[in-house]
Amino acid sequence: KTVDDLKNLKGQKVLVRCDFNVPLKDGVIQNYNRIDGAIPTIKKLLDGGAKVILCSHLGKPKGEPLPEMSLAPVAPALSERLGVNVKFVSDPKVTGEETRKLAAELKDGEVLLLENTRYRAEETKYGKEDSAVEYAKELAALCDDNIFVNDAFGTAHRAHCSNVGVTKFCKENVVGYLMEKEIKFLGEAVENPVRPFVAILGGAKVSDKINVINNLLEKVDTLIIGGGMAYTFLKAKGEEIGNSLCEEDKLDYALEMINKAKERGVNLLLPVDHVEGKEFSNDTESKVVDTIDAGWSGFDIGPKTIENYKKALEGAKTVVWNGPMGVFEFEKFAEGTLEVCRAVADLKDATTVIGGGDSVNAVKRLGFADKMTHISTGGGASLEFLEGKELPGVAAADNR
Ligand code: 3PG
Repeated sequence: KTVDDLKNLKGQKVLVRCDFNVPLKDGVIQNYNRIDGAIPTIKKLLDGGAKVILCSHLGKPKGEPLPEMSLAPVAPALSERLGVNVKFVSDPKVTGEETRKLAAELKDGEVLLLENTRYRAEETKYGKEDSAVEYAKELAALCDDNIFVNDAFGTAHRAHCSNVGVTKFCKENVVGYLMEKEIKFLGEAVENPVRPFVAILGGAKVSDKINVINNLLEKVDTLIIGGGMAYTFLKAKGEEIGNSLCEEDKLDYALEMINKAKERGVNLLLPVDHVEGKEFSNDTESKVVDTIDAGWSGFDIGPKTIENYKKALEGAKTVVWNGPMGVFEFEKFAEGTLEVCRAVADLKDATTVIGGGDSVNAVKRLGFADKMTHISTGGGASLEFLEGKELPGVAAADNR
């Protein structure tokens, strides 16, 4: 069920779990994706005349009310976007007396933002400690055990009090528009893709994506691998990789995946040339090579690889991308990510899904965000989704 299934919202008290776990620097929000993503659901509730209570975690304060992890900076950002003054309650107990009072006094069309749900250690202990059940009850009591909306896709891979526990104590449980959109685009891409289906995986480590590679090899027509993780695959194939990143304990796994791709007829593409550098820095000496020299490291895919990858993307109808092709933060190693990004953005009639984390930063920084079908707000959650796992946050909304 989604927020569209909620009828007669007027006067109803609704608790909404968002993922406002945004990057902060000196109290200033560095990226508004998750805040922007939450707006349609909140607007829908306000337009219906509901009393809206918002909650989220931020960082990992582990039960300590750390001021640098307060949700306070999120309230003005929400107020600006909603055109409504969002009240923030600074309460280290999250569901303490002041919060309960403000929640009780909330009027139709008003919004209250709670403090970081992880200021209470119980938040992450749902299913493990009884005190966590009490905390989940306290959260539900704020909306009079009434309606809970889960719109926190980024947190859906966690089974915590504020996204899973609370569903046990509210009469109605639905998902918000952001959650719905994420499940639709990621889910359709993986479960029901229009073919050809191409996945692009990059980033530093194979170990972060073991189950993603395994699962996607059962679904895709082509798997493109770039970034630091490519070097473990190349070494597994017997290539020289100099000082490039390599996870020795994943060499067997990499070989297994190369064989799995062959068996399943998946076109698995690895770099055939590289931009290598002496040091991990933007000022380091660098050159394009077919084979990494001893004492050097591969920091980006080379021009021949870029051409291969662009060709492999031609005519793709579904693309899922997670992880950059090189160290795109440094200009001299950004070309591979930029060109692959451009090729994905230029695809016609294709569904292009950017699956969270660094690839989202890359797409945004390189200016292609508007050209993608969907940019996920989930980091770990989108990876677990691509692994084919059931996410507890999603499952809890389905079966109370
Ligand atoms: C995320 O940023 O991936 C989510 O907000 C979950 O945060 P966590 O990894 O601290 O649980």
